[in-house]
Amino acid sequence: MEDLLWYKNAVFYEIYVRAFADGNGDGKGDFAGLTSKLDYLVALGVDCLWIMPMYPSPLLDDGYDISDYTHIHPDYGSMQDFKTFLTAAHDRGLKVIVDLVLNHTSDQHPWFQAARRDAKSPYRDYYVWSDTDRKYSEARIIFVDIEKSNWSWDDAAGEYYWHRFYASQPDLNYDNPSVQEEMRNVVKFWLDLGIDGFRADAVPYLFEREGTNCENLPETHAYLKRLRHFIDIYYPGRILLCEANQWPEDVRPYFGEGDEFHMGFHFPIMPRIFMALRRGDRSPLVWITGRTPPIPESCQWCTFLRNHDELTLEMVTPEERQWMWQEYAPEPRMRLNLGIRRRLAPLLDNDRRKIELANSHLFTLPGSPVIYYGDEIGMGDNVWLRDRDGVRTPMQWEASPGAGFSSVDPGQFYLPLIDAKPYGPEKVNVVGQLSDEGSFLNTIRRMIAVHKQNAALGWGDFGWVEAGDPAVAAYCRGCGEGERILVVNNLSGKPIQMPLSGLGARRLVDLFDSTLEIETEKEPVLVLEPYAYRWLRLV
Ligand code: NOJ
Repeated sequence: MEDLLWYKNAVFYEIYVRAFADGNGDGKGDFAGLTSKLDYLVALGVDCLWIMPMYPSPLLDDGYDISDYTHIHPDYGSMQDFKTFLTAAHDRGLKVIVDLVLNHTSDQHPWFQAARRDAKSPYRDYYVWSDTDRKYSEARIIFVDIEKSNWSWDDAAGEYYWHRFYASQPDLNYDNPSVQEEMRNVVKFWLDLGIDGFRADAVPYLFEREGTNCENLPETHAYLKRLRHFIDIYYPGRILLCEANQWPEDVRPYFGEGDEFHMGFHFPIMPRIFMALRRGDRSPLVWITGRTPPIPESCQWCTFLRNHDELTLEMVTPEERQWMWQEYAPEPRMRLNLGIRRRLAPLLDNDRRKIELANSHLFTLPGSPVIYYGDEIGMGDNVWLRDRDGVRTPMQWEASPGAGFSSVDPGQFYLPLIDAKPYGPEKVNVVGQLSDEGSFLNTIRRMIAVHKQNAALGWGDFGWVEAGDPAVAAYCRGCGEGERILVVNNLSGKPIQMPLSGLGARRLVDLFDSTLEIETEKEPVLVLEPYAYRWLRLV
């Protein structure tokens, strides 16, 4: 029988098609290239691919500015290439979700072009217009480094239009029932093609209301619930994943009573993994898990360490943000908007112990983990590139000058390969790590495998375990009867002895190596090396 709750203990992998593999030798990744790499992803062990926007677009926001919702960007191939990819993924047991950008289109979308040219066009009301730029003044600006207002003047229209992101991304007007229906048809179009769901972009901002901050409005939830209802009726088992960069209590309503989103990113826990690691203190994690409300049984959080955006610091206090910038983005060009535009390995000083430890949290805290392409091999970044390009560079498959990304001369790649030592392809690449049993890539493969073998890591509840030292993040998953897993993370650079007496007389079996056992009666203390982690089954 089909498992409708497959996402509860799945591992996700985020792919930027342009960056992954070039099948036609034009220096840009495409679906043919991606299809040729599916066996790698199967061997890695991930369950579901999240494909960043692959639609026609001027690419001023790398595809989050869509000019046509029902075709494939010509750089990425044809619709047939997409279908071939989808079938090949499904044949291998992989699920595929794609980005769904509801909130805005590109200003190049024919709807916007018609709207701005003709006040009487039915498309005029597809967008949000005003003769003043003073409305909705309580709405914050998201891309603060570039945009000074959420309103931009359009000469052709003779009015201002509303946009929560770049001025080239006008917001759709969800008060217009036609817009609601158009977007439902987009959802239908891709589900009919067979995709397994959507990562729904920027959902808090669908509606605007004066006197509010225009985020998380009741009207927005009502529309999203109708969308979910439509999916439940016609496409059971397909999922909606919510991108709402909000505090947990504000994300909670997006799960509804299990009748809105299946999944939601847990934004605030992410910077706190980095905080805890740098401070050698679990308190930030204790604080945020304590502030995270329970969610319906059929729902699931998505955890992540990095993604295609800057490491967002919206869900921290101003003091914490300054501290994070000081610690993790000492050079101004490492910062972007309210975040840090760096990849995982350079953030953690390319220290294998710290990178594994961060991943230990990713794979064991409540939620389904999402891996960002390239982070499984410890790729580097390039802070000299514009916007978020520095974390979107070509995937490094092998040690050759083109890194196996494309057959064309690297000078013609859509972005330069990472070449700064020690992150260049000659050192950091898939082929080299696959053949090395002790490589980071093979460690991630084992983490994925263990995560999937242990239902408690997907389904189990969560509770902190007293470790006698704040530098130890120790917690229990599946704390009820049945399978129980104890996770222990030493956040500090010092060795720690964790007393096990609180557990009673137990046998603890290491999940990575079942020959490693601890009898708490004989060994009442767990010795943790600096930055060490253990995942243990309680017997
Ligand atoms: C969130 C996406 O992750 C980001 O890349 C994009 O720029 C904005 N939404 C606007 O769509």
